[in-house]
Amino acid sequence: MDRIFPGCSNFADYHLINQVGEGTFGEVHKGESKSGEVVALKRLRIEKETEGFPITAIREIKLLKQLQHPNVVSLVDMAVKSYGRTGAASEVYMVFPYMEHDLSGLIDNPSVHMDMGQIKSYSQQLFKGLEYLHRHYILHRDLKCANLLINNRGVLMIADFGLARPYDPNSTSKMTSLVVTRWYRPPELLLGAYHYGSAIDLWGAGCILGEMIKRKALFQGNSDTEQLTTIFSVCGSPNDIDWPEWRDCMTRPETIREFPQHPRQLKETLRPFFEQCRFAPDDLMLDLINQLLVLRPESRLTATGALEHPWFIQPPLPTPPEKIPPIQQDCHEYEVRKAKGEAAAAAAAAAAAAVANEPRGRHPHYHMHPQQQPHYHGGAPPPSRAGHGGQPGIPLPTRPANAPIPVSRGFPSASGSAAASRGGAPANRGYGARPTEHDGAEPGWENRQERDYPLEAPDRRVRPSAGGGGGGGAAGGPYRSADAGREPARRVEHRSRY
Ligand SMILES: Nc1ncnc2c1ncn2[C@@H]1O[C@H](COP(=O)(O)OP(=O)(O)OP(=O)(O)O)[C@@H](O)[C@H]1O
Ligand SMILES: [Mg+2]
Repeated sequence: MDRIFPGCSNFADYHLINQVGEGTFGEVHKGESKSGEVVALKRLRIEKETEGFPITAIREIKLLKQLQHPNVVSLVDMAVKSYGRTGAASEVYMVFPYMEHDLSGLIDNPSVHMDMGQIKSYSQQLFKGLEYLHRHYILHRDLKCANLLINNRGVLMIADFGLARPYDPNSTSKMTSLVVTRWYRPPELLLGAYHYGSAIDLWGAGCILGEMIKRKALFQGNSDTEQLTTIFSVCGSPNDIDWPEWRDCMTRPETIREFPQHPRQLKETLRPFFEQCRFAPDDLMLDLINQLLVLRPESRLTATGALEHPWFIQPPLPTPPEKIPPIQQDCHEYEVRKAKGEAAAAAAAAAAAAVANEPRGRHPHYHMHPQQQPHYHGGAPPPSRAGHGGQPGIPLPTRPANAPIPVSRGFPSASGSAAASRGGAPANRGYGARPTEHDGAEPGWENRQERDYPLEAPDRRVRPSAGGGGGGGAAGGPYRSADAGREPARRVEHRSRY
């Protein structure tokens, strides 16, 4: 007999249409309710039934239920599929209104051109959503293009509250600095600050505005140190005059303490990209980005400050959402990445087939001087090169023209270049990904606790999830250690996927 989960719908009330996203916590599917409403269903990964429902997910759901704003995604339902002898909830879905695009998918799709009115409209909606969150003392902590959903009525909504949390600006308690996807992570977090506030989200907003013009993530470091040096090479190195407190942020023993001195050249770096997008250079937009991407968090523009910036009242004005033309094809990071991966794999297959069919004497590499020949990484050259120089009798390995090309990780294919250029998890693992062991985290960082997280009433049905046990018997009880397990839990999932 089916168990009833009060307050939740039965999963049978929905049917899944196709997958539109894959995040750290599970897949996102487009679906339809019995009443014909098109929705998105985000499946929560429950690794082991015996470990209970992840408290991290409960926190996300709790937050989302409290939020109500046109530019913040709304949770419309929870759908539960129960099976097994115990009748326990084995699959749990969060149900959201379906949004046809995310900003990452739009930017990554070369056939989508956003005009300046549209860019201004999305920016304005982003700041309105952020202003609402910050007015209610909520930090998002994972702003990036893939987490900004856009529908065909031109409405932008901030989504993915998996790392969000309430905060108290007057609190002196510590929070973890291992939040925000690296390419959007502000310098204070990269340095290791554990006292921070809403300014961390404004840095991400500045990166997003710049990305709408550059159509690539602005700062793409492969490690925290590289991320910092990339930022400093464009935004100027920190100094005691502009950011007197910058050394106080350095809490991690491995953080580099000295950086080469660079002047600030953010505007000069961004200006050429306007022309590439067929825009005239826009000094007011550059000024707004310049005021968001300020190293010192206290000097960064707030969401309210951004909304009052003259850019928004200079023509072209922000296009009203309902006047933004709908985009025929759904564009999510996942779909665009998949399409690009398929195209790259097809191109690689065609190239390999061409090489395989090439008459031996006309192989392009045969005519090259050895020093011109492509350099093969990783030791001995492949057998095909043994025959270079016209040595007879050593056969070239051939692949039948239609044979599938093995696709490895890191190859620009299904799990490759598109995601790497976008900073989206999970395919770009180690690039713009959420905090992982590649982020230069010190050993044992997973045992950190965010001591200021409000304690919740103990609920014996909820047990801390896997990674949270590290802080175990330490101060704070299971609910705090589960909170500390927030990022490690994701980290474990990342690991298991790769
Ligand atoms: N309501 C929605 N409508 C349409 N697509 C959605 C919706 N919600 C999420 N998606 C798609 O699914 C993707 C992943 O969703 P989400 O960010 O909520 O999951 P996540 O597991 O927290 O992801 P990640 O760890 O990659 O940030 C989004 O980037 C978006 O493309
Ligand atoms: Mg996400």
